[in-house]
Amino acid sequence: MQIGLVTLFPEMFAAIAEHGISGRAIRSKLVSLDFWNPRDFSLDKHRTVDDKPFGGGPGMLMKTEPLVASIQAAKSSLSNAKVTYLSPQGATLTQHRVVELAAKDSLILVCGRYQGIDARILETEIDEEISLGDFVISGGEIAAMALIDAMIRFQPGALGDKDSAQQDSFTAGLLHSPEYTRPQNFKGQEVPTELLNGNHEVIRKWRVKQSLGATWLKRPDLLEDASLSLEQEKLLQEFKLEHEQEQILGANK
Ligand SMILES: C[S@@+](CC[C@H](N)C(=O)[O-])C[C@H]1O[C@@H](n2cnc3c(N)ncnc32)[C@H](O)[C@@H]1O
Repeated sequence: MQIGLVTLFPEMFAAIAEHGISGRAIRSKLVSLDFWNPRDFSLDKHRTVDDKPFGGGPGMLMKTEPLVASIQAAKSSLSNAKVTYLSPQGATLTQHRVVELAAKDSLILVCGRYQGIDARILETEIDEEISLGDFVISGGEIAAMALIDAMIRFQPGALGDKDSAQQDSFTAGLLHSPEYTRPQNFKGQEVPTELLNGNHEVIRKWRVKQSLGATWLKRPDLLEDASLSLEQEKLLQEFKLEHEQEQILGANK
């Protein structure tokens, strides 16, 4: 996958290019990052990249001409790529959208700075706006890195275990089941016995039940959209009963 980045701060991307799973995927060329810095397209002697908003008000906007020139340079290099602007006003990013975007050969990500970009550029140069959530950060770079990292998890060969991303929270519409590592007894707390007996069917059912239970407890909104199999319905009912009994036992202690 080829990712073009329009950013005033290309050096920030070392955070994903030099570390962990994303770093390995970029080093092994599963994913390439190419940068277009509006500063390189600024024609005045100070290489200005910001400008005042019409109508006044606090803050600056990204200067129009260098920003558009850098987006167009990225487009001529990645000719089939859609252009996504990271923006708090975009649709909130979901795992579903990550999977769709990760399947593309190329993508151009525009990272805003200051108070953002001229509204006309949204119309002429941008295909989609994506938000990390209902909060404001100082620039689009961290949002772009979050999106790139999430997409890398779906590139074949990026993860040690090819099923890992499929089992991540949200990929199948549910939260991941709880996980445990050694020691088996940690300060008096035991690992669930179902995970210890090596019986794959028992482990599978336990994980499905706990995944449903975690979703019901922490993100019940996800269950509203989920179409559960008969087995999942049954396991969720079992989880709810067991949870209720634990609550009663806890209250009587
Ligand atoms: C300080 S913000 C501008 C916010 C803008 N004035 C507003 O209120 O809509 C600067 C840049 O950070 C990025 N940004 C801020 N919050 C974001 C979010 N939640 N998701 C994605 N990008 C974000 C955008 O690229 C934006 O242009």
